Amino acid sequence: MMAKRKHNFNAGPGALPMAVLQTVQRDLLDQGGHGLSVMEMSHRSAAYAPIIDGARAAIGELYDLPDTHEVLFLQGGASLQFAMVPLNLGSGGAYVNTGVWATKALKEARIIGEAHEIWSSAAENFGHVPGPEVALAVPEGAPYLHFTSNNTIYGTQWDHVPPADAPLVGDLSSDFMSRPVDVTPFDLIYAGAQKNAGPSGVTVIIARKTVSRRFGGDERTPKILRYATHASQDSMFNTPPTFAIYVVGLVARWVQAQGGLEGMARTNEAKARLLYEAIDRSPGFEGMARPDSRSRMNVTFTTGDKARDAAFVQRAEALDMIGLKGHRDLGGLRASIYNAVPMASVEALVDLIRSV
Ligand SMILES: Cc1ncc(COP(=O)(O)O)c(C=O)c1O
Repeated sequence: MMAKRKHNFNAGPGALPMAVLQTVQRDLLDQGGHGLSVMEMSHRSAAYAPIIDGARAAIGELYDLPDTHEVLFLQGGASLQFAMVPLNLGSGGAYVNTGVWATKALKEARIIGEAHEIWSSAAENFGHVPGPEVALAVPEGAPYLHFTSNNTIYGTQWDHVPPADAPLVGDLSSDFMSRPVDVTPFDLIYAGAQKNAGPSGVTVIIARKTVSRRFGGDERTPKILRYATHASQDSMFNTPPTFAIYVVGLVARWVQAQGGLEGMARTNEAKARLLYEAIDRSPGFEGMARPDSRSRMNVTFTTGDKARDAAFVQRAEALDMIGLKGHRDLGGLRASIYNAVPMASVEALVDLIRSV
């Protein structure tokens, strides 16, 4: 029987591709003829090895990973990376503050040592990110420049990688696997999987091996908080989130089948264009992010009135569209149109916007 599915605009955990869910369902009781579920396998078994290796390889292929970089699967969400980055790369990092998550990363780094806020759009309610013309003043000797490529709450997204003399660290949690990214200038990319890449419980890391293979930090840093610990043990220092990694592998293969990151980006752009056009043309709605910073992942908009926004959410829910209430820090409305949200869901939302 075909399951009745909602139009899922949740910000995270978000929609997963139908084809992936069907594979999970098919494999759930008997993974690959082994007579048990992937959740019941030993992470060190011969049955599980191709699953984690395959997930790692699929991400490597998507990002055309050079030999200088590697993929790790960690736990603790993107939030743990706010601490692991300064613990491993050193204090004195430079932070571009484009929203709540960037602020949290900065605050965590300041618990560990010094950290510099070198740019902020807080005064404009985080409605935009720096354009390519903005020269970011990274203090001399800063071990890294940290930025958040997509700001889930505010619906803003970088269109470029910040040019900087320092190595880059990127929180790509909410646009990972949604468009091509050249990983070469990055010392570290991290992404909680639960938006585009899989279920919650695993954080995907792409690290420069000189960072992940050699720990140069304070020796009092617990082993579990060192990239080198995880890298030297192929992300099996302790029991990894085996099920989440399995699903991430399936999602990465699904993205490959959509034409890889280029194909995915084309579809995501088409979905976002359709939605922003409907918002811009409607007299009843306005976009919340500055047009030059608009995200292709999280579309923030409003009627300009709290009660009307709430009424819109209710009308949408009656039509099986969920997750449209804006984040409590910003208010308004938000449609998260991650990779797995089909064009048909965006069209349904656009129809509703046009009818208001
Ligand atoms: C950009 C960004 N960074 C970090 C986080 C925190 O992620 P986690 O809940 O995996 O710690 C989120 C969560 O929504 C996010 O959107």
